[in-house]
Formats: sequence, C-alpha cells, structure tokens
Amino acid sequence: MKTIFQIVFKNWKTTLAALSALFVFSLTVGIGGAYLVGWTGKEEFCISCHNMTYNYNEYKGTIHDTNRTGVRATCSNCHTPHEPGPLMLAKLKASKDIFYTFVWPTIDTKEKFEAKRAEMAHTVWKGMMESDSATCRSCHVADKMSPELQSVKAQARHAKAKTEGKTCIECHFAIAHKEPEGPGPTELFKKPETK
Ligand code: HEC
Ligand code: HEC
Ligand code: HEC
Ligand code: HEC
Repeated sequence: MKTIFQIVFKNWKTTLAALSALFVFSLTVGIGGAYLVGWTGKEEFCISCHNMTYNYNEYKGTIHDTNRTGVRATCSNCHTPHEPGPLMLAKLKASKDIFYTFVWPTIDTKEKFEAKRAEMAHTVWKGMMESDSATCRSCHVADKMSPELQSVKAQARHAKAKTEGKTCIECHFAIAHKEPEGPGPTELFKKPETK
C-alpha cells in the first residue's frame, strides 16, 4: 500500500502541475463570481428588467434616490442581504426571475405587474419582518439617531417602537414604491419570537 505521501512525492511534478491548475481555476471562478455578484448588485442591472414603465419611476425622486447630501440607497441596498452567505442565497433565489422574464413572463405589462404587486410586496415584507429590517439597519443605526434633531412625532414613535419591539418596516413601508392594496406588514407577518 502506497501512502498518499509516497504518491505525491514520487509524482511531484504532476502534483505541482495539478495544484497550479486548480489554483488558477479557483482564482478564475472566484474573480469571475465576484464580478458577477458586483454587476448583479447594480441599479442598472435591476432596472434592465424593472424599468421605467412600472417600478423604477416610483422610486425615482424619493428620499433614497435623491437628497441634500447625495447619499443614496438603491435597489440592492434595500433588497439584498449584506452578509456573504444570505447574499449568495438571495442571488440563487432571484434566479427564478430569469425564468419569469423570458419563459413565463409575470410582470411584463403594467396590468400584470399591478395584479402581482401585493404578492411581491408581501414577499419583501416577510423577509424584512424576519430579518428585523436588516437591510434598513445596514445604513440606519437606531442607537445613533439623534432624537433631538427629529420631529416630535418621530421621537414619540421611535420611543414607542423600542418599548413595543416594533421593527422599521412595520411603520416605514411603501417608502420607495406605491403602497399595495390591503393590509400592511404588521397585520400579515409575525416577527421571530427570539427577537
Ligand atoms: C432578468 C430580469 C430581472 C432582473 C435583472 C431583476 N429582476 Fe426582480 N423580478 C423579475 C421578475 C420577472 C419578477 C417577478 C417574479 C415572479 O413572478 O415571482 C421579479 C420580482 C422582484 C421582486 C419581488 C419579490 C420577489 O422576490 O418576487 C423584487 C423585490 C425584485 N424583483 C427586485 C430586484 C432587484 C433588487 C434586482 C437587482 C438586483 C432585480 N430584481 C433584478 C425580473 C428581474
Ligand atoms: C444605503 C443606505 C440606506 C438604506 C439601505 C436605507 N436607507 Fe433610509 N435613508 C438613507 C439616506 C441617505 C436617507 C436620507 C438622508 C438625508 O435626508 O440626507 C434616508 C432617509 C430615510 C428616511 C427619512 C425619510 C424622510 O422623508 O425624511 C426614512 C424614514 C428611512 N430612510 C427609512 C428606511 C427604511 C425603512 C429602510 C429599509 C427598507 C431604509 N431606510 C434603507 C439611507 C438608507
Ligand atoms: C412605531 C412606528 C415606527 C417605527 C417602528 C420606526 N419608525 Fe421611523 N418614524 C416614524 C414616524 C411616525 C416618523 C415621523 C414621520 C413624519 O414626521 O412624517 C419617523 C421618522 C423617521 C425618520 C426621519 C427622521 C427625521 O427627523 O427626518 C427616519 C430616518 C426613520 N424614521 C427611520 C427609522 C428606522 C431606521 C427604523 C427602524 C430602526 C424606524 N424608523 C422605526 C415611525 C416609526
Ligand atoms: C429604501 C428601500 C428600497 C429601495 C431603495 C428600493 N426598494 Fe423595492 N421595495 C422596498 C420595500 C420595503 C418593498 C415592499 C413594498 C413596499 O413597502 O413598498 C419593496 C417592493 C419592491 C417590489 C415588489 C413590488 C412593489 O412595488 O411592492 C419590487 C419589484 C421592487 N421593490 C423592486 C425595486 C427596484 C427595482 C428598486 C430600484 C430601482 C427598488 N425596489 C428600490 C424597499 C426598497
């Protein structure tokens, strides 16, 4: 019985070549993948499908698109998780949208989009309720807000949010798109008990 060591040592040239090839291959896949993740996170990519006819024009001009300081939140800032694991999972899940664009179009006309809006909004709300509005919190740090600079109403509601354990999306939904018909996130979804 030859040990692995003997095999590797005897064929060290082949082993070295194989390892180098593996290294170059992983590097290519890694860099290619990184570019793909970067490219698919861009606003231009999202609005190549979610174009001016329906969703994009609603976001245009909102506080997250344009404001005094020019610090923006675009599609993926709110819609895709920021941690690498959940990010890759979200990308995998979203690949269904390629099917729903080219094979069985579900939102290719204004009418179809409106008919599907509430269902899609519910998907987003559910995710945000479960994550305690994680994507919002990647920019807005509750503890770092200066209440004294906020309106009296905001101060009161945010204090209430803290004591009642409410999450951002329960009060701040429909901030980037039209409000869908029917009940909001609080009525529809539960937050995880652990939170
Ligand atoms: C290839 C076209 C295409 C691209 C590119 C695309 N989408 Fe979509 N998206 C769709 C389609 C089609 C649906 C409807 C899917 C369905 O019927 O379930 C959808 C649904 C959604 C929904 C509703 C919730 C859900 O998961 O169904 C959100 C939110 C969304 N897209 C955000 C984005 C964001 C953010 C980007 C950019 C990172 C993006 N989309 C890029 C085609 C696309
Ligand atoms: C990429 C960073 C980023 C993300 C993600 C983000 N925001 Fe914001 N948000 C901002 C910026 C920047 C402003 C505007 C600040 C200014 O007025 O200059 C803002 C403003 C706001 C305002 C104030 C609105 C007003 O009219 O004054 C609310 C409310 C808000 N965001 C809620 C949310 C919620 C809820 C989410 C998640 C669904 C979210 N934000 C996600 C960066 C972000
Ligand atoms: C219980 C409901 C509630 C919850 C939960 C809540 N907010 Fe608010 N928020 C409000 C109200 C009401 C205002 C004031 C809106 C107005 O004056 O028109 C406000 C205002 C704001 C503003 C603008 C402040 C200003 O003075 O310009 C920001 C930013 C904001 N909220 C972010 C958040 C974020 C981020 C979360 C989650 C960490 C959150 N809010 C959770 C109700 C809530
Ligand atoms: C500030 C955070 C924020 C930004 C920026 C944002 N969205 Fe959304 N999006 C939401 C939330 C929250 C919902 C759930 C419905 C609601 O509350 O409006 C949603 C819902 C949707 C839906 C489901 C249909 C609907 O209208 O409810 C689609 C599709 C979508 N977003 C695509 C996009 C695209 C494309 C962009 C970039 C042009 C974008 N979103 C930018 C927060 C955001």
